[in-house]
Amino acid sequence: MSGPISWEKRGEIAVITVDNPPVNALSAGVRDGLLAAVTEAGEDAGVKAMIILGAKRTFIAGADIREFGKPRTGAPLLDVNNKIEFSDKPVVAAIHGTALGGGLEVALCCHYRYAVPSAQVGLPEVKLGLIPGAGGTQRLPRLVGVEKALQLITSGDFVRAGAAKELGIVDEVGEDLVEGAIAYAERLVAEGASAKRIRDLPCTADAAVFETFRKAIARRSRGFKAPWACIDAVEAATKGNFEAGYAEEQRLFKDVHDSPESAAQRHVFFAEREVAKIPDVPRETPVKDVKRAAVIGAGTMGGGIAMNFANAGIPVVILELDQAALDRGLAIVRGNYQATVDKGRLAQARMDERMALISTTTDYADIADVDIVIEAVFEEMEIKKQIFAKLSEVVNRDAVLASNTSTLDIDQMADATDRPGQVIGMHFFSPANVMRLLEVVRGGASTPKTIATAMAVGRRLGKISVLVGNCHGFVGNRMLHGYSRQAGFLLEEGAMPEQIDKVIYDFGLPMGPFTMGDMAGLDVGWRIRKATAHERSSNMRYSTIADQICELGRFGQKTQAGWYRYEDGSRAPVPDPIVAEIIEKASAEQGIERRDVADQEVLERCMYQLVNIGAQLLDEGMALRALDIDVIYIAGYGFPAYRGGPMFWADSIGLDKVLATIKRFHEEVGEEWRPAPLLERLVAEGKSFADFGK
Ligand code: 3HC
Ligand code: NAI
Repeated sequence: MSGPISWEKRGEIAVITVDNPPVNALSAGVRDGLLAAVTEAGEDAGVKAMIILGAKRTFIAGADIREFGKPRTGAPLLDVNNKIEFSDKPVVAAIHGTALGGGLEVALCCHYRYAVPSAQVGLPEVKLGLIPGAGGTQRLPRLVGVEKALQLITSGDFVRAGAAKELGIVDEVGEDLVEGAIAYAERLVAEGASAKRIRDLPCTADAAVFETFRKAIARRSRGFKAPWACIDAVEAATKGNFEAGYAEEQRLFKDVHDSPESAAQRHVFFAEREVAKIPDVPRETPVKDVKRAAVIGAGTMGGGIAMNFANAGIPVVILELDQAALDRGLAIVRGNYQATVDKGRLAQARMDERMALISTTTDYADIADVDIVIEAVFEEMEIKKQIFAKLSEVVNRDAVLASNTSTLDIDQMADATDRPGQVIGMHFFSPANVMRLLEVVRGGASTPKTIATAMAVGRRLGKISVLVGNCHGFVGNRMLHGYSRQAGFLLEEGAMPEQIDKVIYDFGLPMGPFTMGDMAGLDVGWRIRKATAHERSSNMRYSTIADQICELGRFGQKTQAGWYRYEDGSRAPVPDPIVAEIIEKASAEQGIERRDVADQEVLERCMYQLVNIGAQLLDEGMALRALDIDVIYIAGYGFPAYRGGPMFWADSIGLDKVLATIKRFHEEVGEEWRPAPLLERLVAEGKSFADFGK
């Protein structure tokens, strides 16, 4: 046979190998080849049993996601699965790497499953806005029970071979993939084992299970379509025979497959992988091996960043001004770990291991031999410059020197050193031990090795690293600034915080700008606004409402009052007449006649700022591709994955429509709505953000 499938006889066992790098996805050629191989082996009188396995790094990792949304070619997966399942000769799936989605569904059509200990199995379709569409929702509950199947299918979590055996997904675990599976198949033949079909097993559950499950996932699945369809499909498995349940699964699969939510989530899947690709920093760029790290500053961010290193098993030393600051910082780190232990999500022994990886010092000599330093001290250029100068005096010549600054110019810090090529921004998000996003800020002199190392360190820390340019606020915060300003202006024009927050929440973000402000604390921004007031041009529109709120000592949740008020011990925002009064007075002072602001306008005023500034950033080269911006907003700002990120969302509306609205705002609202030249160019050329740079 040619193509991605080959098979050979090992004694009486047919070994069928899938070789379709990188992950042996079920592309058309794989389906055709599997169908032919199982047919041939089935007709070969010398074959008593078959094994299906994957070549190189993995078993089959699922359907070929790139084929979704395209015209269908090749044999349907259903035909392949039926051929396997109805084979009279026992078929064994021999699993290493990952058996995911359609890959696990193929394995579930095999009559037995053998796995090496490191193998993992799962049905992660839900993460792509899909449901398992090749019988997974019908076979898995028959095998492991309805509740466990619901848990696996709605979370998309992977299970290791040992646990999979306990669940009954895997029948046998052995060290050697090929020889072990052959020995297992030979044993089955010798024992006269029959072709065991999961479809023949019963599937029952109490109807209440499904309602309980729907309630349990309601919060995390808000706005998503697929998790609900997953539950419906499993429920169908309990309502009739296999064929009827399977038909319902197919109907639900088609429904989610054709949905904008799934198109968006598939975009996110590829975008999260694409951000690692940097045109002038090829994959083979050498990367510094990071064995030991240092963090300067044990404050909010420094402590969280140190936890990231410890979690990844990398020893880290924190440097501070004095012992008291170190003690304070370390106590917070310990408290964070302890809270996780108390919730049963981390073993005490793991916590102890991680704490043991974190050491502290006030002496620069102790960080001389580290491979990377991340500076996280106060946001003041002079202090940062002094630190970078000191670092270049004492630290290892080839270490990477990074700053966690959220706004300052990386190049000025680089210029304070004798090695500007090794200086880079690594902008973590708060809380740094939780948030997935890392903006890697490329300085004018950052070398490819420095960039590749920072990106790789981010990955090791479990972050999604996105490369951005060196400008005020970088990508994420520069866009957010425009969004927040519009929210403030909408207050002056007639909206109230609760309306704006509801519109943004209903759109899918975890919370709107005012609830967010109250949670984060309003005083920091206020202090910055006061300090930079002299830089503001007098003809720039400025809303004073936020300042007036702070002047009353209302700093958000921590003072039980901010944009909202908070009852004792509660974090639920309650609209406050005092705030309404301040807002109405501000409108009057500005000479603005308050009006009813439609929800649609609230949405467009906030979100189209993200889009317009995003377009400017692309044009300036601050973001490499529109998808980089999408990943930043999903991983760092809670933008709903089922909308694909702000730029994908704008493409899905149609850039001509978005531009027309932005032009209207430009006339009606103000200069901050001047359309980004890139947006106008793309519309003139009939293109979308996805075409940018192609
Ligand atoms: N289809 C097409 N391409 C895929 C793919 C798939 N199912 N899975 C991975 N790839 C590609 C990636 O895009 C990447 O391509 P690139 O090198 O050009 O960027 C390459 O394979 C390697 O992937 P990763 O960088 O993610 O490699 P890792 O080793 O980190 O992870 C993995 C491997 C765990 C298999 C991970 O890729 C993964 O989770 N893949 C998706 C698995 C999945 O969701 N399967 C279900 C698909 S839907 C389905 O099966 C429907 C069915 O029910 C009918
Ligand atoms: P913080 O005020 O909580 O901590 C700063 C720490 O730096 C303090 O513990 C202080 O003692 C220490 N420090 C000050 N000068 C020092 C010096 N010369 N040497 C050693 N230590 C020194 O500040 P936070 O919030 O952790 O911010 C730190 C940096 O991270 C800033 O640049 C900030 O812009 C950035 N950042 C902050 C985010 C946040 O949400 N707080 C998010 C992303 C970045």
